[in-house]
Amino acid sequence: MRGSRLVTIESFIIEQERLFPEATGELTNVLYDVALAAKVISSYVRRAGLAAVLGRAGAVNVQGEEQQKLDVLANEVMKHVIQKTGRVCVTASEEDEEPVPVTVEHRPGKYVLLFDPLDGSSNIDVNASIGTIFSIHKRMTPEGTPGTLEDCLQVGRSQVAAGYVIYGSSTILVYSSGVGGAHGFTLDPRIGEFLLSHPNIVSPKSGTYYSVNESNYDRWSDGYREVVRVFKSKKNARYIGSLVADFHRNLIAGGIFMYPADKKSPQGKLRLLYEAAPLAFIAEAAGGAATDGERPILDLEPAALHQRTPLVIGSAEDVAFVQKTLAKATAGAA
Ligand code: AHG
Ligand code: MN
Ligand code: MN
Repeated sequence: MRGSRLVTIESFIIEQERLFPEATGELTNVLYDVALAAKVISSYVRRAGLAAVLGRAGAVNVQGEEQQKLDVLANEVMKHVIQKTGRVCVTASEEDEEPVPVTVEHRPGKYVLLFDPLDGSSNIDVNASIGTIFSIHKRMTPEGTPGTLEDCLQVGRSQVAAGYVIYGSSTILVYSSGVGGAHGFTLDPRIGEFLLSHPNIVSPKSGTYYSVNESNYDRWSDGYREVVRVFKSKKNARYIGSLVADFHRNLIAGGIFMYPADKKSPQGKLRLLYEAAPLAFIAEAAGGAATDGERPILDLEPAALHQRTPLVIGSAEDVAFVQKTLAKATAGAA
């Protein structure tokens, strides 16, 4: 950063706020709050083995997945930082079965925050990159009342902001407020600030990487098998097992991530509201694309909080190729 202007995430978001004449600054503050939670989670991730936050928490979450201590801790940090700010009316998390309304005592605000507090849990104990994913909506129910499930079940296209944090070789927060692109900020541990490092991210139209768990091959449809057969001859396989890490690499370098529906998971594995929709929001803001194999993720109407969806996300031309190949395979099978 020597010589270049230090742009903190706070000053950048205020700049961006000028794009919205009606902005009141509250959304800006919600983004600060998420950045603060990210700093706290990052501080634990960076010393996980020393802070006794490795390993299992000894409980199973609503997904039926073994919770890791860091899943639980990150979830508590997100709620602790956000719930009492008066800026949100309800939070919803991969780790909580039901939405957590903000009580009248804590002055429910006009925003809704959904999140995957710790993405890539299977990578925590082996020091591979992990992340946090967040999605922000405006409330639908009357101001001043505790938020409800209705406030959480909104289509991805109506997000007012979304983003993720990747705890990798450095901690980077990427967000978009819909217009004005997607932007990345690197946490400078010397000063504890997120500084602008990736302004106006534009994802390559096609990329060299493809990311998919090929051990599921036997359960895939013929369409996905054909897609991967072609990708094997033209691209480079990279699969970290943390959606945020695979997504971020493909966003920056170009590439595509797929988690198909298969015989074991007919709706796929990844969750619509706090994994697929926020990342689809970023992908489209950066000129990429995201579908469930045929429909844009951002147009899918959620019916349940932890609803899963197949996910094809990344470079626009690669996503289009998958859609075309799957459609041809379906037509051929008809
Ligand atoms: P989470 O840790 O929040 O449950 O997410 C894990 C997800 C995602 O991060 C990753 O892409 C995917 O699970 C990996 O699944 P497989 O191990 O089945 O490939
Ligand atoms: Mn996840
Ligand atoms: Mn998670």
